[in-house]
Amino acid sequence: MTSQPAARTAAPSPTTVGSASASQPADDRPVALITGGSGDIGAAAIERLLLDGYRIAATYHRNADRAAALQRRLDPNGDRLTFYRLDLVPRNVREAAARTDGGAADDQDDDVEAVVAAAVSRFGRLDALVHCAAIIDTTPLWQATAAQIDTVLHAGITAPLLLVRAAASLTTQPSLVSEDPPHETRRGSLRSVVVVTSVAERFIGPDSAAYHASKAALAAITRYLACHLAPGIRVNAVAPGAIDSGPNAADPHWPRRMLSARIPAARPGTPADVADAIAYLVSPHAAYVTGHTLYVDGGLSASLTPPPARARSATADERNASR
Ligand SMILES: NC(=O)c1ccc[n+]([C@@H]2O[C@H](COP(=O)([O-])OP(=O)(O)OC[C@H]3O[C@@H](n4cnc5c(N)ncnc54)[C@H](OP(=O)(O)O)[C@@H]3O)[C@@H](O)[C@H]2O)c1
Repeated sequence: MTSQPAARTAAPSPTTVGSASASQPADDRPVALITGGSGDIGAAAIERLLLDGYRIAATYHRNADRAAALQRRLDPNGDRLTFYRLDLVPRNVREAAARTDGGAADDQDDDVEAVVAAAVSRFGRLDALVHCAAIIDTTPLWQATAAQIDTVLHAGITAPLLLVRAAASLTTQPSLVSEDPPHETRRGSLRSVVVVTSVAERFIGPDSAAYHASKAALAAITRYLACHLAPGIRVNAVAPGAIDSGPNAADPHWPRRMLSARIPAARPGTPADVADAIAYLVSPHAAYVTGHTLYVDGGLSASLTPPPARARSATADERNASR
């Protein structure tokens, strides 16, 4: 697949896998945009939301083969699923990182707003945004350059902010993004946002400081946007724990048995466990849930939470002194 610059106009044409035709005839089925659709959790979310009746615009970054394989398996005609290439990191940030690494920056000029516009143009509406993509980074702080840190923070914080803003403003009445309630939404406009954070937003794990910071920021962004986009758009987060996916699944040394012994559910999670939580949060079953982070971790974080300090019993001397 060749790289193409994504246009910045109202009807951009980012690189796609599958059907990329212009607006389709009227179709009442809801539409979800899923970033990181070539990843394990994103792919599970695609499968699950297709089952729930959604049409899906999904993104991949480097793994065009996985996107193409999913397209062939799930929707070979491209009626209900279209992939777009997206890099959450803009070219200037990539180039700065490449200069310090001594590598070469990919010349694609991706743009999160362009992908949102392309999805809306392709399907004619956008009901849900599911942000799964992230740079999963484990660089120790003392080895990370400032440019590398910026890259992780941009992908984890700035990009989702731009994504949500683009999705909300492209699909809703202008009043929705203004300061003044009451907000209005129109049919086919964005109703629900789910971002994938991590238990790393609260607990310290093997990932980098920048990754932890980005997930904690995304949890704060979730609460902020839930308030500012209410009542038209619900915004929630799913925080996976130790999931047998992504870099973990690819690592033969990932300590599955040790984790199974520590996780109350006695196993690592699966991408489908996370996808089920995403499907719930975008659905009308979660109509009264917003600003919430749903931990999908088999009880791992509950087991890590220290019990409240027990009130110290007064010593005999203290009891005597108080008489
Ligand atoms: N696995 C876990 O245990 C775990 C735990 C907590 C939270 N999470 C979160 O769950 C989400 C999905 O993770 P996963 O386990 O499914 O990992 P994964 O299989 O490695 O998926 C990562 C996804 O992010 C995309 N991506 C990476 N860099 C990108 C960039 N610069 N621009 C755009 N997209 C980019 C990848 O695209 P390509 O593959 O096409 O390059 C891929 O689709 C992430 O937000 C992660 O932080 C995972």
